[in-house]
Amino acid sequence: MCGIIGFSSGGNAGYNQGNCESSIDIVLNGLKSLEYRGYDSSGVAYYDETENKIKSIKKSGKLVNLSAELSCIKPVKSNIAIGHIRWATHGKPTDVNAHPHSDCSGNIAIVHNGIIENYAVLKNKLIVKGHKFITPTDSEVIAHLIEDYMKSGAKTFYEAVRLASLDLSGAFAFLAMNADEKSICAVKYGPPLVMVNKDKEIYFASDVSPLIQYSDEVIYLKNSEIAYFKDGLLKLTDFKGKTLNKTVTKIDWDASRAVKTGFSHFMQKEIFEQPSCLLDAFSSRIVSIKNSSDSFFSGFKIMLEDVRLTKKDIDKAGRIIITACGSSYYAGLVIKYITETLCGIPVIVEYGSEFRYENFPVSKNDIFIGISQSGETADTNSALEIAKEKKAGILSITNVPGSQITTMSDKGVIYTHAGPEIGVASTKAFTTQIMCGLLLALRIKEIKDAAAVAGKNLHGVNFFDEIVNLPKKAEQILFLNDSIKEIAKKYYKNTNFLYLGRGILYPIALEGALKLKEISYIHAEGYPAGEMKHGPIALVDENMPVLFLLSNNMLAPKTISNIEEIKARGGKVIAVADYEPDIDGISDIIKIPTTVEVLSPILYTIPLQILAYHIAALKGTDIDQPRNLAKSVTVE
Ligand code: AGP
Repeated sequence: MCGIIGFSSGGNAGYNQGNCESSIDIVLNGLKSLEYRGYDSSGVAYYDETENKIKSIKKSGKLVNLSAELSCIKPVKSNIAIGHIRWATHGKPTDVNAHPHSDCSGNIAIVHNGIIENYAVLKNKLIVKGHKFITPTDSEVIAHLIEDYMKSGAKTFYEAVRLASLDLSGAFAFLAMNADEKSICAVKYGPPLVMVNKDKEIYFASDVSPLIQYSDEVIYLKNSEIAYFKDGLLKLTDFKGKTLNKTVTKIDWDASRAVKTGFSHFMQKEIFEQPSCLLDAFSSRIVSIKNSSDSFFSGFKIMLEDVRLTKKDIDKAGRIIITACGSSYYAGLVIKYITETLCGIPVIVEYGSEFRYENFPVSKNDIFIGISQSGETADTNSALEIAKEKKAGILSITNVPGSQITTMSDKGVIYTHAGPEIGVASTKAFTTQIMCGLLLALRIKEIKDAAAVAGKNLHGVNFFDEIVNLPKKAEQILFLNDSIKEIAKKYYKNTNFLYLGRGILYPIALEGALKLKEISYIHAEGYPAGEMKHGPIALVDENMPVLFLLSNNMLAPKTISNIEEIKARGGKVIAVADYEPDIDGISDIIKIPTTVEVLSPILYTIPLQILAYHIAALKGTDIDQPRNLAKSVTVE
């Protein structure tokens, strides 16, 4: 939703001494790594050692506007600064409404990610006490509340921040800096906040991407925790003031993955990273067993060490509930299909935003799977909170170690190992989620039917070979980039698209449509191919390109009939197929390698990502930071 960043050198290295980065440069560079989280305004507050006060610069629009403004100021001595990049929730994206926000005295500056749900009540009380507000934002309340506690006798800035945090409700991750102490506090309740503490310096950020250049050992703040950094010393407590030990998490992301390295956009790079990401997702988790008597498929075993499901859990559960949002929800639909096919367990897939307000009868025997690239999606995490309250078992599939979703996953976490996904549109995260979902289904099969599966294959499929060969097949599809670009040139001016698929490919029709919508702003709808005749076919005419996902399976004849129905109404047909369909009149066909049904969604997705990318590039939209979107939706 928004990105926050903070730095303090505790009074040493942060000075702008020519060869040493000032705290302002550190914060600005950090904001560049967080720009994908929100980008309608930004700002920096820093303690100016010469003038002995906090100064701040804020600009609406993209980060380049702030950089330009900062380049005009003379070099300053500053060893503490905070920064913010915004996706507006309350108040238009203007210079004034941009963060940081200050209190009346100017001795306190804050940057905030989240929503303060009780800000109106708090604001009214503070106005009655004489506080002057200059913006309509919810976040400004935090600065005045802290100031009020300082005035009411809090002995330290930390104490004032702690008391203020207890008054807030909603979702908030914020940094607060203080001119008198030259200290900085970080508070987390909901949205993410992570830090690196080394050499008596502290770096804070909304996620690890700005921090991996400083260290691969990070500390994730948990809900209701406060970090207080003053004079080079870090204290970590809960909201009640109880001192906590810091747990360090080792990050396996390398900084190189957070840069474009020759691609025009992060999204393009991340599409092309998929063969290696798929390999990272399954390698070391599928082990070939040679002629062993103890393996269920007598060919391989699944090693998901962090999955703590027992046979009793699975037998008692009787069903699995998946909750997610957006592309992750579509991955959940694919995983539903895979799990029901391989394990014979009913799976229900629920939008996080819907589940949290339904009267869904959750039992303590239920097994939940939360799917979230960021691990910070408020709707998904709130749905899982309901499962947690009802004592159901929770697993998660996520890309970010230490993220909020992992703290609720009592039955284990399966990391996609996709590395930082900077493009707002999910690509490698989506395909690796499906891979992880397949591995989990195979693991559940192993646990559930220990003696039931015999022979080298499951359902007549040698999964080991199929999975191991998948990255090569994904790479073959990347070689189709230029031919797909030629197809994009024919359709980028169209204003509506239909994506149609059946069975396990129906969720990929939904995902393909979402990719196009998100980055090209063209209206596109995914639909089950068999459902067209029940109404939507009324939309079809020569201006409506219809993209079919066609696989050489038992559904192929049905899909061919659907194609005939579209052709009969003048619709332009594009097909992605793993065989040469026996039908004429298809305007454009994208031929992909074949694989087993449960792995096919991964391969069918890639050409749809490439098509959406080239259409958006031809339209000149902002592919990595599409309008109105943010990478991680940490508010409702
Ligand atoms: C996908 O391209 C979108 N960026 C969006 O739908 C995303 O999948 C959704 O917001 C869920 O995000 P998450 O996986 O981080 O929970």
